[in-house]
Amino acid sequence: MSTARILNPFFTRTFSKRSVYLFSAATATFAVAATATNEKQQRQGGHWNFNWNKKWLLSTAPIVHMAQEIKDKSEKDYQEVYNAIAVKLREEDEFDGYIGYGPVLTRLAWHSSGTWDKNNNTGGSFGGTYQFQKESNDPSNKGLHNGAEFLAPIHKQFPWLSHGDLYTLGGVVAIQELQGPVIPWRPGRVDLPEDMTPDNGRLPDAVYGADYVRNFFKRLDLNDQEVVALMGAHCLGRTHLQNTGFDGPWGAASNTFTNEFFLNLLNENWKLEKNEAKNMQWNSPKGYMMLPTDHALIEDDKYMAYVKLYATNNDKFFEDFAKAFKKLLEGGITFPQSTPTYRFETLDSQGL
Ligand code: HEM
Repeated sequence: MSTARILNPFFTRTFSKRSVYLFSAATATFAVAATATNEKQQRQGGHWNFNWNKKWLLSTAPIVHMAQEIKDKSEKDYQEVYNAIAVKLREEDEFDGYIGYGPVLTRLAWHSSGTWDKNNNTGGSFGGTYQFQKESNDPSNKGLHNGAEFLAPIHKQFPWLSHGDLYTLGGVVAIQELQGPVIPWRPGRVDLPEDMTPDNGRLPDAVYGADYVRNFFKRLDLNDQEVVALMGAHCLGRTHLQNTGFDGPWGAASNTFTNEFFLNLLNENWKLEKNEAKNMQWNSPKGYMMLPTDHALIEDDKYMAYVKLYATNNDKFFEDFAKAFKKLLEGGITFPQSTPTYRFETLDSQGL
């Protein structure tokens, strides 16, 4: 039973990370089956930090977030959830000065995933821990209750959906309904208990430059190209003084997913100014804004190359964004091979 701890350093050096996870999963299955202490998780998939008898093993045993195989639900069931969210988005369009709920749902999907730490596989979208106050009250999550309240009736209608699946699917629906790319999505996240909620402070601060951004996203295993693509989501929505102390939209089309963020970064005349909350932000004569972390993308040569690429090639932006967003939403999760990947139809493409 001690093989996971003893062999893990050896495996880390010798095999790919994927092998380690697979090995961990296999060991976990054995451990759970052998001790029968974790029957519920064995049935449902779940979080395994092995329940070893020897306490000293607990601290270093790998955490495996194994997605649940949901055998009694098909693509049709998930498309039904997609449609319920999409119809509600379409109906409740007055929110936030007629921007609607799409941007806040996108941000909720990202923040509920962005707590992941690849170093110890804690946090992330898997456990749906945003549902607990400890996480939803993180000052970095101010304003996201609007997204969670929007999704609450959807969860009532489809109570079989885990919170992690709900929050991530909400982001997928938002991006697609706002005319963005199709985001391939996999189900099977499993609600974790409250005490698995990660500590506050894992989400990024907007006041820093390129080095901070690059270093921050390492914890989420995201490289320069993925980071720039993902930041393009700032074409959606706006900043709110009352939430984060920043003020204004990034562009003109706050509820349409396009490469406008990159075009504005390159083409607007940006001026660094102090806003009402005494925070520094970049403002343009057209009334657009950029956070310091956004503007950092044109202050760094490596980031700049991708900004130029996405400003001139919207298809490439869509392709790379879809891949990076899927990766962000799946950080730290091991999906069984049998897990299907769904590509949902928008309401428009269904003629609805
Ligand atoms: C360094 C990384 C990032 C920082 C510092 C950052 C910071 C912020 C801040 C300060 C806001 C304003 C929130 C408010 O005042 O209500 C915001 C909004 C938003 N962010 Fe980010 N963000 C980052 C990355 C991302 C990523 C990776 C995504 C998605 C892929 C994203 C999606 C959004 C969206 C859609 C909004 C608009 C929300 C709304 O209109 O309510 N952000 N972000």
